[in-house]
Amino acid sequence: MDKFLVVGNPIGQSKSPIIHKLFATQTNIELSYEKYLTTSDDFDDDMRNFFTQGGKGANVTAPFKEQAFALCDCLSSDANAAGAVNTLYIQNGKIVGDNTDGRGLVADLLNHKVTLADKTILLLGAGGASRGVILPLLAQQPKHLIVVNRTQSKADALIAHFNDSRLSTISYQQTAEVDVDIIINATSASLSAELPPLAPTAVVNATCYDMVYNHQLTPFLAWCQNHKASQVIDGLGMLVGQAAESFAIWHGVKPAVAPVLNSLREQL
Ligand code: ATR
Repeated sequence: MDKFLVVGNPIGQSKSPIIHKLFATQTNIELSYEKYLTTSDDFDDDMRNFFTQGGKGANVTAPFKEQAFALCDCLSSDANAAGAVNTLYIQNGKIVGDNTDGRGLVADLLNHKVTLADKTILLLGAGGASRGVILPLLAQQPKHLIVVNRTQSKADALIAHFNDSRLSTISYQQTAEVDVDIIINATSASLSAELPPLAPTAVVNATCYDMVYNHQLTPFLAWCQNHKASQVIDGLGMLVGQAAESFAIWHGVKPAVAPVLNSLREQL
């Protein structure tokens, strides 16, 4: 049976085994998919050993996505742009890395009938989560993709890295002056029940997306709803979407996301 794993630290919380096993049942593919806990010191050796011993693929989660990037012999364009890898596999004896997070986000937005072409998007945060989704978002041809971050220098560096005329940055204060269609929260604020200091007027009539998910609305999405957002969406669909993209890379078949998303939502 082909072996897969998800590696991280901590890893107990990961839903990837449940998702991949549901995809496997749906597509009649036999596989084993386990959680794997490691440390930064052991990560490289553990991954190399896994593939030497016949492992077929691995998902990588926090805090190892940058370390996985450095480990790879070959990288996809999304992984290269993101500077981070969440999907590993072997091709011609080489370790290949891809990053499916951004494709998962875009797929989830499109599933919610949120089109991105010609739209103005605010992307909150300038860390790894933000960087990982910029290229797939730009591929949807938005009019503007505006990065907003507490620490302005990090947003400036991100813009410089991508060097695309549709990409710009403003301060949180300036969000009071823009008319936006879609707001994507890629900050880690929700993880500590904090709110990014967004101007309430920016949210009115906007679709608001939080990469984080919870059994109830995240603080950010609850705040957006209270300030007249047109639609609020949490990151559970992005999680299942990135997993579907990894599954397609490994097995050559794209599973249906909706039934797995429904089943996960019931278990939250
Ligand atoms: P990740 O890999 O999840 O992106 P990260 O690289 O540590 O994690 O980045 C966290 C991001 O969330 C940063 O953009 C951070 O802003 P700063 O660069 O100014 O620190 C942002 N962030 C975290 N808590 C926040 C809060 N309470 N309000 C606004 N932004 C916040």
